[in-house]
Amino acid sequence: MNNMTYRGAWANRWTFILATTGSAIGLGNIWKLPYMIGVNGGSAFVLVYILSILLVGIPLLMTEVMLGRRMQKNPMDAMLSLAKESNAAPAWRYIGTMGMLTGVLILCFYSVVGGWVLSYISQAAQSNFTNITGAESSAHFDALLASPFTLLFWHTIFMVITMSIVAKGVTAGLEKANNFLIPALFAILLLLLGYSMSVGDMAASATFMFSPDFSKITPNAALNALGHAFFSLSIGMGSIMVYGSYLQRDASIARTSIYIAIADSLLGLLAGLAIYALVFANQLEPGAGPGLIFQTLPIAFGHMPWGNFFGTLFFILVAFAAATSAISLVEPTIAWVVENIKISRKPAAAGLGILIWSIGVAVLLSFNLWQDVKVVFGLGIFDTLDKLTSTIMLPLGGLLMAIFAGCVMKKQHSKQELNLKTSFYQLWQLTNTFIAPIAIVSVFIFLLFS
Ligand code: TRP
Repeated sequence: MNNMTYRGAWANRWTFILATTGSAIGLGNIWKLPYMIGVNGGSAFVLVYILSILLVGIPLLMTEVMLGRRMQKNPMDAMLSLAKESNAAPAWRYIGTMGMLTGVLILCFYSVVGGWVLSYISQAAQSNFTNITGAESSAHFDALLASPFTLLFWHTIFMVITMSIVAKGVTAGLEKANNFLIPALFAILLLLLGYSMSVGDMAASATFMFSPDFSKITPNAALNALGHAFFSLSIGMGSIMVYGSYLQRDASIARTSIYIAIADSLLGLLAGLAIYALVFANQLEPGAGPGLIFQTLPIAFGHMPWGNFFGTLFFILVAFAAATSAISLVEPTIAWVVENIKISRKPAAAGLGILIWSIGVAVLLSFNLWQDVKVVFGLGIFDTLDKLTSTIMLPLGGLLMAIFAGCVMKKQHSKQELNLKTSFYQLWQLTNTFIAPIAIVSVFIFLLFS
């Protein structure tokens, strides 16, 4: 196969950094992290989350970039070639298979939430939030969830946008968007933070998020925090592997990974601080769940000067951030289809898009007509997909990648790819062979017995 006919490549290292940051930064930072903090007891969750990013997230991010770049193939074929190169069982390729499935399953609910964001763009643009109260804002969000047709409309638009960018090819489609997007998102978040600081209860927010209370660390909260570290950094399923496969050989994997992890967690934590300052000042419920940002942020935008303008801009930027993440969720599967079945990107994107869209319809119905449908352990459709992917499939994928890179792959190969000083290489090796596997396995075990 002639690689050049199928594969894109990043123009330079900087665009890779931006694209990978674009994959990492998305609804996970603005929507999911803030509400997960509230649902899982505040600071205890934040602490485990930060530890997970440092001890597991960054080393595994490096691992995934490295595995992808070495073979320059989609995750499944890359794992197969890597296994061959290391004289290991070809079954390692199922890491890639599981990853493709994980990405597809995540996008089924990600797109529905992306739809909520799109609908909030239109609401903000119509000035629907002017002078809104906490109770009104919550009622607003409940009304959205109760309307299957509105949800369906916006979910469809989100899928169409995502899959049209995918159809064009990731490297071409993303390079331009990301250059502007991430700085703009940071800027508007700082504005929001400034506003929250002036009218909200920033002290209560900071205490809630950062005062250490170890007694609140339950096994379940720890698993959620670890799972969210994977979700937030986009690791454990091959998104990063496939982006790494478009990367030239001269980039420093370690520096890139650290940069991405810092940008990603900083953005999420800043969003959390801004949101909880508003939650506590308006007597809202910190454990409100997935609707949290949609109930709190309209209050801020509804009262600040130029609020309709900033609100519209904010939700537009979040929608873009969500789209650049969504793209990376399907890119492994698209790359696999294009490189193996040899159909072109457009029909591949259309077919996969329709599949994901259909499952997404079931997800959006689980907020209204199918509210009482339970899949496993009393969880509805949305919760099942979310929990299954974030707390089981991603950590499991990451665990297998860590073991492969740390124990199976020849040291000379990982050394060559990572190109680190000996002491840093040993640290990376230690995290992949011991720290990350032990952390992941022990939260799994805790959960089994709780
Ligand atoms: N990290 C993205 C977010 O925070 C979501 C995402 C994109 C993702 N690609 C992924 C999550 C791969 C897990 C695995 O919104």
